[in-house]
Amino acid sequence: MSALIQQALALYSDLPPTERFHVHARAFSAPLMDVAVRTPGGTVADIGCGHGLLSAVLALADPKRTVRGVDPDPRKVAWARSALARLPNVRLAEGTVEETLATEAPGSFDAAVVCDVLYLLPEEKWPAFLRTVHGLLKPGGRFLLKEVEGDGSWKHRKALAQEWVMVSLLGRTKASGGMALKPRGEMLRLLADAGFNVEEVVELGRGYTTPHVLYVAEARLP
Ligand SMILES: C[S@@+](CC[C@H](N)C(=O)[O-])C[C@H]1O[C@@H](n2cnc3c(N)ncnc32)[C@H](O)[C@@H]1O
Repeated sequence: MSALIQQALALYSDLPPTERFHVHARAFSAPLMDVAVRTPGGTVADIGCGHGLLSAVLALADPKRTVRGVDPDPRKVAWARSALARLPNVRLAEGTVEETLATEAPGSFDAAVVCDVLYLLPEEKWPAFLRTVHGLLKPGGRFLLKEVEGDGSWKHRKALAQEWVMVSLLGRTKASGGMALKPRGEMLRLLADAGFNVEEVVELGRGYTTPHVLYVAEARLP
């Protein structure tokens, strides 16, 4: 595990064991460093930041960067606020991206990160959600969309079962009415329709039991 992830995990040492376990499990099961190393400096939105682990990594990696994390789950935002209180370059808000960043700061972000969030929204809301993210970014701003690929593999089916447990059985993840993992072609079409040029598709499933995939895109001029 990278030194940066360990540094970020140390911020959670005063949280209750259940929350610490959740954050450590996240660190082991998701390729957060692969997202972080492709994120530029400047002002970055972490949409659906959860406990804020990726926000912490982004803030620690570049103290000049400003990270704005937002999540609709009040419990998670409270844990994130408590853990990240010592990071002066992180601001956290409770709510959806439409309720917070989109009204407050359109066109002002150098980058936006959406890491394992889109699949929790109903599919019919995906186009509008992606257009909202586009609207946050400066022209040429970078969008990092980390998803689990719906490729029909055993890893895909395992990931769906795991998410069902997290959302419906344990209530650890707050869904917004959706649970769909899409194939790459469909994701590329959605991103293009929302105004993004996809520059790179990074397969990150190797070494994980989940078919992680990262879309690295640039916001075209409106
Ligand atoms: C699997 S967690 C990922 C958390 C974090 N991005 C990470 O990579 O560790 C999914 C997060 O999406 C959040 N979420 C659910 N619906 C959302 C929405 N409509 N807008 C933004 N975030 C949402 C959940 O509250 C949850 O914290």
